[in-house]
Amino acid sequence: MGRSHLSVRMRIRRFKVFLLCLLGICVISFLHYYKALHNISLLQELSSPSTHLKTLKMFSDIFWNFPAADFHSQQDFHEHSHLKGNVDSNVILPDPSDRKLHERTFVLHDDPTPFFIHTKSGAVCFREGTDVATFASHRRLLQHHREINPKDKGSNADKVVVQCPCQQGWHGPHCGIPTIVYHSNLPSKSKVTPRKVPRRVINAININHEFDLLHARFHELGDVVDVFLVCESNFTAYGDSRPLVFRKQILNGMFDYIKHKILYVFLDRFPDGGHSDGWIVDDYLRTYLTKNGMSRLEGLKEDDVFIIDDADEIPARDGILFLKLYDGWTEPVGIHMRKSLYGFYWRQFGTLNVLSACTAAMLFKVYNGDGILLRRRSYYSMSGFREYENSTGRILVPWAIGSPIHYAGWHCSWCFKPEGIYYKLISAQNGDFPRWGDYSEKRKISYIKELIQTGGWFDGSIPDYPPSDPKEHMFAPKYLLDNYEKYRYLLENPYAKEKH
Ligand SMILES: *[C@@H]1O[C@H](CO)[C@@H](O)[C@H](O)[C@H]1NC(C)=O
Ligand SMILES: *[C@@H]1O[C@H](CO)[C@@H](O)[C@H](O)[C@H]1NC(C)=O
Ligand SMILES: *[C@@H]1O[C@H](CO)[C@@H](O)[C@H](O)[C@H]1NC(C)=O
Repeated sequence: MGRSHLSVRMRIRRFKVFLLCLLGICVISFLHYYKALHNISLLQELSSPSTHLKTLKMFSDIFWNFPAADFHSQQDFHEHSHLKGNVDSNVILPDPSDRKLHERTFVLHDDPTPFFIHTKSGAVCFREGTDVATFASHRRLLQHHREINPKDKGSNADKVVVQCPCQQGWHGPHCGIPTIVYHSNLPSKSKVTPRKVPRRVINAININHEFDLLHARFHELGDVVDVFLVCESNFTAYGDSRPLVFRKQILNGMFDYIKHKILYVFLDRFPDGGHSDGWIVDDYLRTYLTKNGMSRLEGLKEDDVFIIDDADEIPARDGILFLKLYDGWTEPVGIHMRKSLYGFYWRQFGTLNVLSACTAAMLFKVYNGDGILLRRRSYYSMSGFREYENSTGRILVPWAIGSPIHYAGWHCSWCFKPEGIYYKLISAQNGDFPRWGDYSEKRKISYIKELIQTGGWFDGSIPDYPPSDPKEHMFAPKYLLDNYEKYRYLLENPYAKEKH
């Protein structure tokens, strides 16, 4: 009895030692992998097919059951790897988030930026538009006045500061109306009021290869727009296959400064009938952009602002900011844009006024959630219009930010280097005849350079352009002017003949 008892205890002890050793081995190998993990470049780790990581994951799952921590480190990996643009499609990790780029949703939040200053005397002044120095001296005057007449509190003296002193370029009692709205045809101009909470602004565009203009847009509007819906297709408008260049650039980190505001929309189809009638494609791109993009927004409110542009139409920031911060404007809203060809230097006469903005309520109740209908100027014939107008309690008349002589944005047509123009020619839709891309002589780079030089058009005409100068007001978006060397080809005629 005693003997067998002893042998059982010994066996148990041996088993314990064995277990301890096993545990020790486990700990040592874990440390080894952990060390390797943190020492070796994470990217190398990811792209090698037989990876320590896989083992580590199995290891930790079985022995330590660390799934949460493990998952976390994978997320980090993922962030690092796609910032550096080194994503291997055979990685072992669970579905990388960037492969779902076109399925993500975007949650809209109220913009907490303190756009207005609230003074003690009750004035509400738009920070950027208010002349702070004058404001301060007004305050001192008021202080002085109060010290001299202590009993006169709150009467005449306060009224002095209720009006905000505006900086040049800003108007209205709150200094939040920019010149391009002040000189617009907005009928209710004198009745607009600052909102307590800014509207959220959604800007939707289709992109092909207008990347320089895209950077210009993001810098112009980045602090005002809450989300950019950007649609890219793997088909050209002509129906050929095209690489997803924008997607790749996002993953490569080229848009890191703004990617938190980009919702990527992927169109993977070419519409039926698009080969014979190119206009179908043109419409379909915008319909898909709006339907898919808007359906992936969470927290949308009726009074949020929806703006749809072509990639070569860039609204000026201040006009959009007005829509964001003010109540009392009517809709739909157009934008008068400065027109130019090949670059900003070939300015054309007049403006291009495109209906491009409305509230989310109007988009859905009048335009059936389809952005192309907004651009078509046919709101009054839409079946939902009267009912919607009635529900707003006002008469809806379209108006436009800017005026024929006050530019509120830029429309830069065919603004590429010659190679970009060539690409635009061959990928243009099969419509809008004559389709210049069908003529081999019009596709020659030397011919294209000649057009850029003279400002001529493919039909052989050479229009008369008014003079323009990069120093003039609203010549080009600020970002391009601030990076003049880099974007010189858009700001000065690259093939201009030497002046003698
Ligand atoms: C860790 O890094 C150091 C210095 O970079 C290197 O000398 C060492 O060999 C590395 N260890 C492992 C396990 O890779
Ligand atoms: C575009 O992508 C879809 C889905 O991935 C694919 O089925 C289609 O063949 C692609 N088209 C082209 C032209 O690459
Ligand atoms: C307009 O709104 C009022 C209530 O505000 C309602 O009684 C009326 O039927 C509406 N008219 C139309 C055409 O929708």
